Amino acid sequence: MELIHRPRRLRRSEPIRTLVRETTLSPGQLIAPLFIKKGRGLREPIDTMPGQFRLSADELVREAEELWAVGVQAVNLFGYSEVKDEGATESYNPEGVIPSAVRTLKKALPDMCVQTDIALDPYSIHGHDGLVIDGDVANDETVEVLCRMALAHAEAGVDWVAPSDMMDGRIGAIRDALDEKELTHVGILAYSAKYASCFYGPFRGALDSAPRKGDKKSYQMDPANVREALKEISLDIEEGADVVMIKPALPYLDIIARVSDEFDVPVAAYNVSGEYGMILAAAEKGWIDRDKAILEALLSIKRAGADMILTYFAKEAAGLLRA
Ligand code: PBG
Repeated sequence: MELIHRPRRLRRSEPIRTLVRETTLSPGQLIAPLFIKKGRGLREPIDTMPGQFRLSADELVREAEELWAVGVQAVNLFGYSEVKDEGATESYNPEGVIPSAVRTLKKALPDMCVQTDIALDPYSIHGHDGLVIDGDVANDETVEVLCRMALAHAEAGVDWVAPSDMMDGRIGAIRDALDEKELTHVGILAYSAKYASCFYGPFRGALDSAPRKGDKKSYQMDPANVREALKEISLDIEEGADVVMIKPALPYLDIIARVSDEFDVPVAAYNVSGEYGMILAAAEKGWIDRDKAILEALLSIKRAGADMILTYFAKEAAGLLRA
């Protein structure tokens, strides 16, 4: 054949493929979500998420040191709480599970970018991200509690707070609350487009935080919607979000691509617990190659336009990337 263009020329060898590679994945772009529980020497396996653990603060330090050693320089902490009440009061206790773990971690590894989840579900008897008043998740009352929670975490030394609750107006309110206390250096990683997804199932087992009644569709987004995501993103940017997040990641790559095309802020994506579980399960069955599946999935999230990825594979993927 007389062909002018033979695209295969650029695929002939690994050095050539490396030269023309458009997307790269590196450990510094990964954020490890970790589950924290009060105690000492605790490394409790999570049934619904094999390979993930509930860690006490001392074990968190060990885990963070291992992450740091492979180049992962950011963690996102979720609290497991045995104390649950109507008002989710434990969520803003300065001596609670997260603020104390943050202080311990920051003492050991001051440069690690420490982020914390802001939402009431692990601390509320209802398992909802907000306060339940007259059977409804009450927006404005919830935002007040979220501000107190964010302040408790900020005062403990976090770099970023990460509100995952999807209440209206919470980014602006949290920004004001932080600034009023001269915590202007604390950033906000906003879960801006968070969908009402079945892929969070395993996570709720980790924190015993599944809603006791109903679902989260009155605040998390309808998986069918794109415009709504763009609106949520622009509102959060107006209100002061430093980084916006799309969640889950793999079933929403189109949203990640739209957002990174249309907005000039860093974009995060959350490769959630169910996405983790799917790879684990298929690999265990021998149906896919675990290492390759992890790297291909994470690369696709970056290719779609994410600058950073929260993933339970952070340590493993970093190890693979360095090998
Ligand atoms: C709760 C929260 C959830 C996740 C992160 N923050 C669960 C939910 O909204 O029910 C899910 C993360 C995952 O599945 O890995 N505010």
